[in-house]
Amino acid sequence: MAGRLEGRVAVITGGGSGIGAASARAFAAEGAQVVVADINADAAHAVANDLHIAGSVAIAVPTDVAEANQVQQLLAVAAERFGRLDVLFANAGIGLHGTVVELPLEHFDRLIAVNLRGPFLCAKYGVPLLAQSGGGSIIFTASELALVGSPENPVYCATKAGLIGMARAMALDHAAQGIRVNCICPGAVYTPMLAASFAVAPDPAEDEADIIRRMPLGRIGTAEEIAKAALFLASDDSAFMTGTALVVDGGWTAR
Ligand SMILES: NC(=O)c1ccc[n+]([C@@H]2O[C@H](COP(=O)([O-])OP(=O)(O)OC[C@H]3O[C@@H](n4cnc5c(N)ncnc54)[C@H](O)[C@@H]3O)[C@@H](O)[C@H]2O)c1
Repeated sequence: MAGRLEGRVAVITGGGSGIGAASARAFAAEGAQVVVADINADAAHAVANDLHIAGSVAIAVPTDVAEANQVQQLLAVAAERFGRLDVLFANAGIGLHGTVVELPLEHFDRLIAVNLRGPFLCAKYGVPLLAQSGGGSIIFTASELALVGSPENPVYCATKAGLIGMARAMALDHAAQGIRVNCICPGAVYTPMLAASFAVAPDPAEDEADIIRRMPLGRIGTAEEIAKAALFLASDDSAFMTGTALVVDGGWTAR
């Protein structure tokens, strides 16, 4: 049986780790040719290499999504190598904590640059390619924190809420080109980003236990569980969905 992404080309940013790497594996397992983009060149190459060993077609393109010329180059390489683009998963993101009073201006600027400007740049240079391919799927990784507040995290929350607004408006702009635009809103999932946020807590073990206690499903999620939602949005299984935010959060925002 053909895979759900057979013959399709997917670009995944932040593909070197966590949710992006799990999605690269999930997309490739369904037949996609995958372009793994990450600011961490070694991580991107390692994921692409693993996919290659598993029999898939994948390349790594080291990219800082905040830099317009690098994103332009990323999409040019995808077009040159594979001749089309079907799925654009703008997933790279960073977390920098602090109240508005505490957060240094440089951290504000970097959060906006990676979490909002990055997906904007991916879309800016990716939409023409998707349109040339007859349409496709754009997915932004937002967060449950686009929907609810989180202490000492106002700018991260703002960037993720901004992605939902951008996806809705883009869904209207590009529907006629056959391009769907959706967000995924993951809850807490075990990745290096979550580990880093535990590491700066006064009591990391208690921080983790507290999330698990408050999580309706009683556990933290996995990158693979988010990748399954990304696969759904990338594939024709979600053909009638655009402009939505798909929440995969163990019930966190149900309270
Ligand atoms: N882990 C969670 O609990 C959680 C929850 C909600 C949303 N998210 C979001 O999921 C996305 C993926 O995060 P993750 O948890 O897999 O984290 P991760 O740290 O495992 O992976 C993020 C990847 O993005 C890359 N990256 C960072 N800055 C970049 C840049 N400027 N250009 C290109 N690549 C860059 C990193 O090198 C890393 O490989 C992020 O957008 C994050 O905000 C994560």
